[in-house]
Amino acid sequence: MNISTHKVLGDHRGQLIAIESASSIPFNIKRIFYIFGTQPGIPRGNHAHYKTKQYLIAVSGFCKVTFDDGQGQITYDLDEPSKGLLQEAMIWGTMHDFSPDCVLLVLASEHYDENDYIRDYDHFLRQVSQ
Ligand code: TYD
Repeated sequence: MNISTHKVLGDHRGQLIAIESASSIPFNIKRIFYIFGTQPGIPRGNHAHYKTKQYLIAVSGFCKVTFDDGQGQITYDLDEPSKGLLQEAMIWGTMHDFSPDCVLLVLASEHYDENDYIRDYDHFLRQVSQ
């Protein structure tokens, strides 16, 4: 399963979720980034990575994420801050249908390297069919 539900540690003061590198998620975190202020109807992502694994959490609001392995697509709803979605390497990912308040937190297994990106879908299909 790509999607996990994290335990909510809450009490009368409010809620908290803790995520630990390499135990709550299956890699060491080298980088985080977050996507917010996404304009209506505008998707993000639309790429795959040769090596980087990512873990996505809508810490505020909601969005959808579609994964494509070259053979088929599956769409996930990220609509709870307790839900986390693993994007393995060599999976084409698109984030879309962002709510205006969505903050999509991404934990990544590698430092930023543009050479790790596949931004051309036909090139991606050729790579996964080899
Ligand atoms: P981009 O990959 O186009 O965003 P997305 O595919 O998620 O919609 O990234 C936008 C810009 O930010 C682009 O110039 C690359 C830069 N960037 C970094 O410098 N470091 C990072 O970790 C990420 C994810 C992007």
